[in-house]
Amino acid sequence: MKLPERVRLVEVGPRDGLQNEKMPISVEDKVRLVNDLSETGLDYIEVGSFVSPRWVPQMAGSHEVFSKIQYRAGITYAALTPNLRGFEAALEADVKEVAVFAAASESFSQRNINCSIAESLKRFIPVMQAAEHHGIAVRGYVSCVLGCPYEGYIPPLQVARVARELWDMGCYEISLGDTIGTGTPGAARCLIECVAQHVPRPRLAAHFHDTYGQALANLYAVLLEGVCVIDSSVAGLGGCPYASGASGNVSTEDVLYMLNGLGIPTGVDLPRLINAGQRICQVLGRENGSRVARAFTKS
Ligand code: HMG
Ligand code: MG
Repeated sequence: MKLPERVRLVEVGPRDGLQNEKMPISVEDKVRLVNDLSETGLDYIEVGSFVSPRWVPQMAGSHEVFSKIQYRAGITYAALTPNLRGFEAALEADVKEVAVFAAASESFSQRNINCSIAESLKRFIPVMQAAEHHGIAVRGYVSCVLGCPYEGYIPPLQVARVARELWDMGCYEISLGDTIGTGTPGAARCLIECVAQHVPRPRLAAHFHDTYGQALANLYAVLLEGVCVIDSSVAGLGGCPYASGASGNVSTEDVLYMLNGLGIPTGVDLPRLINAGQRICQVLGRENGSRVARAFTKS
């Protein structure tokens, strides 16, 4: 297969990137991150989530963040919603796009959202209905697509079944999460081959965490399989609170550098992105997780 002619980058840093941070991050710092990212040419930013504040305290201020960011035309500012309650909270915050999230692993589903896969899918039905009523697009996530922190190997067909259910219920795109970053390029290719029998390839997104340093190689592999949407996180921030040891998503800067090298346009400006990443890393008091950002800022 050929590489895609264009790739769409989905920036998940403000949500996936920050949700696991132990130190409190102010609403102002979150807002500044989103505003900085809005200046880079990205057209999709996952800003926060409407989940239980007891489960994920860091996302408790999402409503306020949504109320304070500077909205730019042409950018989708999205939120995660696990149930109708979350969806209604997102509506109140005037959110225009949401994502529901399921898992391909029963154990992870229980740990992450306190219910079975089947129950989670049932919970999404009223969310989908309400979203349709309000004209809100819904993205669907499947976690643990290349391995589970509790169950280990997850068969691709199991992923495909969940992806198919989300697709059939009306999600316009299915993001495949390698939550713990254990995948390797061969497995990633097999996964896409299997899932693509149930969901059209252009409607699949790759959401790869970089725990084992495989994310870029895996992304290259799935680009060759026709995937043309990539989720990533500025400065490689992040991890899932219910996947212990999982590191951040692949960094947006590193993905962009690779795509630039491949001559695949994205519309995103690397120096601006690096600045956005540097700023949030200063706030967090941590080294930038992007190799590209580190190289650029050293030279
Ligand atoms: P539960 O305890 O089973 O739900 O949690 P419940 O309906 O029994 O409610 C319990 C409490 O939560 C109640 O409050 C509810 O009001 C409240 P209490 O009476 O105890 O004070 N509640 C809510 N509060 C705010 N917003 C809501 C909401 N719903 C109920 N929407 C629930 C179920 C899903 C809520 C919980 O398990 C939860 O919030 N989990 C958080 C999961 C999460 O955010 N995980 C991280 C994101 S997923 C991820 O990172 C993976 C991804 O990046 C892809 C990948 O990498 O693989 C997407
Ligand atoms: Mg994730």
